[in-house]
Amino acid sequence: MRKWTRNCCVCLTLIVISFFNPIVLADNTESKLQWFRDDKFGLFIHWGPSSIMGVEISWARQDHPYDHPGNGPFVPNEMYDLLYRSFNPVKFDADQWMKLAKEAGFRYVVFTSKHHDGFSMWHTKLRDYNIANTPFERDICRELADAAHKYGLKLGWYYSTRDWSHPDYLVGDNKKYNDFYEGQIRELLTNYGKVDIMWFDHAAGKWRDYTFERLFDMMYSLQGENLLVNNRAARFVKGAKDSPPSQAIQDLVRGDYDTPEQKIGKFQTDRAWESCMTMTKVDGGGWSYRPDGTTISYKETLQTLVHTVTGDGNLLLNVGPLPTGEFPADQVDILKKVGQWLKKHGESIYGTRGGPLPNGKWGGMTQKGNRIYVHILEWPQDGSPLLLGALDKEIISSKGLNVTGPDVKQTSEGIEIKLSAENRAEVDSIIVLNTK
Ligand code: GLC
Repeated sequence: MRKWTRNCCVCLTLIVISFFNPIVLADNTESKLQWFRDDKFGLFIHWGPSSIMGVEISWARQDHPYDHPGNGPFVPNEMYDLLYRSFNPVKFDADQWMKLAKEAGFRYVVFTSKHHDGFSMWHTKLRDYNIANTPFERDICRELADAAHKYGLKLGWYYSTRDWSHPDYLVGDNKKYNDFYEGQIRELLTNYGKVDIMWFDHAAGKWRDYTFERLFDMMYSLQGENLLVNNRAARFVKGAKDSPPSQAIQDLVRGDYDTPEQKIGKFQTDRAWESCMTMTKVDGGGWSYRPDGTTISYKETLQTLVHTVTGDGNLLLNVGPLPTGEFPADQVDILKKVGQWLKKHGESIYGTRGGPLPNGKWGGMTQKGNRIYVHILEWPQDGSPLLLGALDKEIISSKGLNVTGPDVKQTSEGIEIKLSAENRAEVDSIIVLNTK
């Protein structure tokens, strides 16, 4: 057979085969999530001109077009939208932030490039309402991205699609706004080196108002298919009845992981998740600097991390910097303590998966290879041993990771753990089970 005829035959055969067996692209979700599942702990930073007044970022602005009205107290738009003119965080030092993040045991950082108020923390060419036009002038996103890269932290951009001050937002067919916000994302994914996460935060309007396929194509073409995207690119978009999104679009915007907010997610091992939670507790937020809020304790911070990780999730823990550019001092102290703990006991957190038994109020388990780490946060009040469910693996040996003298018994009904009260750890007693 002449070469071209043979080639034609091969082509035809391939066409016929693929017609009957449509090529299914390999789902790379799990492999691209590997670092995320291993790294567990991210630093969330909410920051912007609202910190000057110590009010909640965006939500303190009087008007929230197309959105929940919020609960106030409010700042009139005219005043809120001019705060940037006096934003001058002279003590901002991205290097110091990222150094602290590293010391605290964070492995990635997600920063509010633009919140719902529409202010951009980088030198965007697409809108004047940005950091270049403040007395500070410097490109905060650039400095942060560089410092994160320097310290080996993965980088994520928080980007709010909802934009309460943009004149084109949801006007007409929304084309102008789509071009604008997709253009902004193009800048963020082009000019700041490697970006690992796009962290969206809600939108309003209807499905027909958006061009999500174009957006995702662009993001993957700029940063590669391994870019992780959370599940909020189209969260709260409505109108599925008159303009239903295709299955492909629904799959895209579902993103790579779930994002329970201000609560610890439920035990879930078949889809990745990340709880985002604030260190500042105050009514109506606490994401940005709120001097009227209270800070969670070291114990609560660590317990939150352990409850999350034993549930097979990640924790994105939020700090709201001061208008000076500094982190709240009490939060820095707590984060450093968490870092010290992780330095000693990080093997029971990083690179593990939650389970095998589901977690509960008492604590939970993490696992790595043949090892199970039992994290005990609460012992039975009456002094009786802790009883856990049955494992389908045989325990060969056990020992305390940060405690001495635990007594572990495995029966067909379950596991029984005893540890005298004086030998228990301050927050989390970790017991290692080596299994067959
Ligand atoms: C909610 C809040 C927003 C915050 C976000 C973080 O969407 O509206 O202010 O940035 O949660 O998850």
